[in-house]
Amino acid sequence: MAAYSLLMLPGDGIGPEVMRQVRRVIDWMARRRDLEFTVSEGLVGGCAIDAYGVPLSDETMAQALAADAVLLGAVGGPKWDGVSFDKRPEAGLLRLRKEMELFANLRPAVVFDALVDASTLKPEVVRGLDIMIVRELTGGVYFGEPRGIEDLGNGIRRGVNTQVYTTPEIQRVARVAFELARKRGNKVCSCEKRNVMESGLLWNQDVTALHAAEYKDVELSHMLADAAAMQLVRNPKQFDVIVTDNLFGDILSDEAAMLTGSIGMLPSASLGAADANGRRKALYEPVHGSAPDIAGRDVANPIASLLSFGMALRYSFDRSEEADLLDKAVQNVLKGGMRTADIMSPGMARCSTSVMGDSILRELDKLVG
Ligand code: IPM
Ligand code: MG
Repeated sequence: MAAYSLLMLPGDGIGPEVMRQVRRVIDWMARRRDLEFTVSEGLVGGCAIDAYGVPLSDETMAQALAADAVLLGAVGGPKWDGVSFDKRPEAGLLRLRKEMELFANLRPAVVFDALVDASTLKPEVVRGLDIMIVRELTGGVYFGEPRGIEDLGNGIRRGVNTQVYTTPEIQRVARVAFELARKRGNKVCSCEKRNVMESGLLWNQDVTALHAAEYKDVELSHMLADAAAMQLVRNPKQFDVIVTDNLFGDILSDEAAMLTGSIGMLPSASLGAADANGRRKALYEPVHGSAPDIAGRDVANPIASLLSFGMALRYSFDRSEEADLLDKAVQNVLKGGMRTADIMSPGMARCSTSVMGDSILRELDKLVG
């Protein structure tokens, strides 16, 4: 069996401490489940700025392009607030997404039974929730040209960004959403602002045409992105798969994250197109950020990062059995009452990042006997 190459980029803030727990689970999978990994590590974000003067070095970029999967922690922090805009920590992450052509960002929001009460919404609104947000990740206003801040003189400046999408960009991400829906609840809701933006009108028309041509068996609906934001908190269970652009996807996925009780629970997968061998470039990362306020204190929730590795098992290594095992271990530990601070509720046992890791490993051992 060939070894899979994994590149770990822990990044900044709580990134390194949550990724330490991921490393333990990787080693467990290698030891107990007949999987072989060669793991290398690199720097991205603020730590790369400190070491190399850039948020992502060309060498690390090349390693990421060659890896079977990249596992990322988080980037950014107040220490680098002052650096110039194109050299900020986030630019490292955006470069990875762009150069790896990771156009499809999968952000599942699943409410675990044990955490129903951790949500700020009523239990009946979120119990059993399982939605998948498919966010376009390499286009739109994040990368559109022209962009910049212009000096108009007399103390007046002008900031410009461009929202732009082409038909192939819309089609390829919509295709991912339709294919995923077929394996789930068979429903796609496409979100844009066609009432205000031409790019939204094009998005709507291209998704509609693709649906008519290739995916008539899937139920398609359209919603304005602002209405979708409202419906996500009013009645989130009406959704199965949501497909939307880069910026709306950024916002709606943070909102969906909180339905689950904590943003510390949400994993994500960013996928490129399949090559001739069916292999996709892929990057897996928690939806949460670097949380500098709690970094280095062993209190962060490692579950989003662990579940992101679970997505790697599922989407990059075709090991859904092991991914299910990891999901199950997380569920059982939560059922047993262990909680990191972010998901703590009365009567539960508060634990640290590393103790959460210990518990999940112990549960994995138990599950395989
Ligand atoms: C996310 C983050 C990033 C984004 C930042 C860190 C650049 O918010 O992955 O959702 O805006 O895409
Ligand atoms: Mg975001």
